[in-house]
Amino acid sequence: MCGIVGYIGYKKATPILINGLLRLEYRGYDSAGIATIENNEIVVIKNKGRVNTLANLDGIDKLEGTVGIAHTRWATHGKPSKENSHPHLDNSKSIAVVHNGIIENYHELKKFLTEKGYKFLSTTDSEVIPNLIHYYFNQDSKNDENRLLRAVKNTCKDLKGSYAIEILSIYNKDKMIVARKDSPLVIGRGLKESYIASDIPAILSYTKDFYLLDDNEIVELSKDKIKFYNNELEEFEKPIKSIEWGAISVEKDGYEDFMLKEINEQPRAIRETVGAKLDNGKIEIEGLEFSKEYLESLNKIYIVACGTAMHAGLVAKSTFEKFCKIPVEVDIASEFRYRDPLIDEKTLCIYISQSGETADTIAALKLAKSKGAKTLAITNVIGSSITREADYSIYTHAGPEIAVASTKAYTSQVVLLIIVGMYFAEKLERIDVSILKNLKSDILKLPSQIEEILKSTNQIQEFARKVYKEKDMFFLGRGTDYAVSLEGSLKLKEISYIHSESYAAGELKHGPIALIENGVTVVATMTNPDLVEKSISNIQEVVTRGAKVFVITSEDIKNDGLSWVIKIPKTNTLISPILSVIPMQLFAYYISKEKGLDVDKPRNLAKSVTVE
Ligand code: F6R
Repeated sequence: MCGIVGYIGYKKATPILINGLLRLEYRGYDSAGIATIENNEIVVIKNKGRVNTLANLDGIDKLEGTVGIAHTRWATHGKPSKENSHPHLDNSKSIAVVHNGIIENYHELKKFLTEKGYKFLSTTDSEVIPNLIHYYFNQDSKNDENRLLRAVKNTCKDLKGSYAIEILSIYNKDKMIVARKDSPLVIGRGLKESYIASDIPAILSYTKDFYLLDDNEIVELSKDKIKFYNNELEEFEKPIKSIEWGAISVEKDGYEDFMLKEINEQPRAIRETVGAKLDNGKIEIEGLEFSKEYLESLNKIYIVACGTAMHAGLVAKSTFEKFCKIPVEVDIASEFRYRDPLIDEKTLCIYISQSGETADTIAALKLAKSKGAKTLAITNVIGSSITREADYSIYTHAGPEIAVASTKAYTSQVVLLIIVGMYFAEKLERIDVSILKNLKSDILKLPSQIEEILKSTNQIQEFARKVYKEKDMFFLGRGTDYAVSLEGSLKLKEISYIHSESYAAGELKHGPIALIENGVTVVATMTNPDLVEKSISNIQEVVTRGAKVFVITSEDIKNDGLSWVIKIPKTNTLISPILSVIPMQLFAYYISKEKGLDVDKPRNLAKSVTVE
C-alpha cells in the first residue's frame, strides 16, 4: 500500500514527482524518496517522514534530471527508516527501483542473492528486486538494447506476490521500465513525455489520456515512445483511455480537509450515481444485463467487501431480501475467501470496492468465479483491477475519494446497491410496482435532503466538543439503523482514535449494558417508525444508567425528553442510512479536529489496501 510516481520527458522531473507523491500520500506516508538520473549517475534522496519532509531534504532542489521515479511508503516489511525507504539501489548503484506490493518469496530470493555475494542494506522485501535485475543483467551475454528489459522479465518471473515497479538504470539512461502484477499502475501520455502513477488522480493535472496496465505486463518508456510487452517480451498494442474527472476534483477546493470536502460533495456524488437510471419507466443500469430467467434461478446472493464497503452491503441486504425474495449474505472479503463458502452457478456474488484494488476483495471475486458463480463489481474507479476480473462492472461515479476515511464512496455505494436491488425486483416482479415507484421518488430526494442536513452542523460540532476527550463510545440502532451505526462507529475509530462499539440495540441486555455507567457517551439512531418504541426503551435503559445520549432520528418521530437530538428528513427506512450517516461522519470529523489530529491521513491506515 504505497504510492509510486514516475516521469520521463523533457521537463525537470522532481517537481512533477513531488506533486504526484503529495496526491498519493493517502496510500502511505511513513517515508518518501526520489531517484533521478543526473550526469550519468543515479541520485537517490529519501528518508522517513512525509513527502513535505522529502521536499525539503538537502540536494533535492539541485536535481535537474528529466527521468525520475518516486515513492511514498506504508511500511509492511521493515520499520520506517531511511534505509527501508524507496528507491532501492542494487549493489553496483546502476539500477534503482520503487516497488508497491509484497514480494512473498523475498527470503528465498535474498538467500539466493546473498550466496552470489550481494549485500542488503534494508530489511525490506523490495531490495531484492534491483539486485535480482542486476544479477540477470550480468548473466546475459548478449549486449544489445534489450538486455535490461530481459533482466526485468526474468526478475518478474521469479517474483511471487504482488508488485508495481518502476526501474531506472544507467544502462538505459533515457528509458524507464515499469511492470505490474496485482498492484495498480497507470501511465499517462503527454506530448513527448509520460507520467506513471499508482492511480490516476496523482497525475490527472498533467493529462487525461491513460494506459491502464494489466497483470504481467512490462512497459518500456522513452521520451516519445511507449512499448508494451507481455511477460514473454512479445510486444503488443494497448488502447488508450480518456478519463473525464477534472483535476479540480482532486484539490481541496477551499475546504480545510479532503474529508470535509468529500462529506459536502455527497449530494453531487449521489446525483452522479443515480444519473439517468431512474428516468425512464424501468430502471436501466449501463453495464448490467440480467435476464428474468437468470434472476429466477438464483438461490443466494453474496455481497462481499471490506470495511466501509462491507457496511454499505449490510444496509442494502434488507432491500434485496424484501424486494427480490432471495436470501442475501453479506460477508467480509478476508473471511469469505478462506471459509469455503457454498457457491455454485445459482449464486450471484456482488463485490463492492471504492478503489477496485483491495486485495482480499479481488481474491474473493476470483474464488466465486472459479466456482461458477456470476460476479458483479461495484466500484468507483474505472479500469481498476476488480473491473477486469468481474463478469459485470458498474460504477458509483462519486469522483476521486482522497481522504482515507470513506464518506461519499459509502453513500454512493448504498445508493447504487439499492438501485441494483430495485432493478432485480422489477425483473422478478415479486413486489408491488407502487412500492418501487415510491422508493424511486425517495431516492431522487436524497441529494437535497443531504444538503439540508449539511446546512445545520452546529449542534453536531457542539456535541463533539463536549465529548472529544472520551475514551469509549457506543453506537446503537435496530435494523438499517444498526447497519449504519457500524459505519458511524468505524468512522469514529479511524479518525479520532476513540474506541467505540456498535450494537444492535436489542442486544444491549445480553451483555454490553454492563459497560454503561455514569458519563458514557452513546450515539443512538432511530429512524424506523415501526421500531421507535423499542428503540426509545433502549435509550431509556442507558439514560437511566447515566449515559450521555446523542440521538439521530427522523423528523416524523417523537423524541420527548431527549436532550441531544439531530433530526434528519423523513425518508424510507431502507435508505435512511444515507441520511443518518451524515451526522455520524461529521461527529467523527469534528472530534478529530478538536483533538488536533490529521483527519485525512489517520495513523496506520492507507486508502487502498492492495496487500492482504
Ligand atoms: C474506511 C475505509 C475502509 C475501506 C476498505 C475497503 O473508511 O475506507 O474500511 O472501505 O478498506 O476499501 P475499498 O472500498 O477500496 O475496497
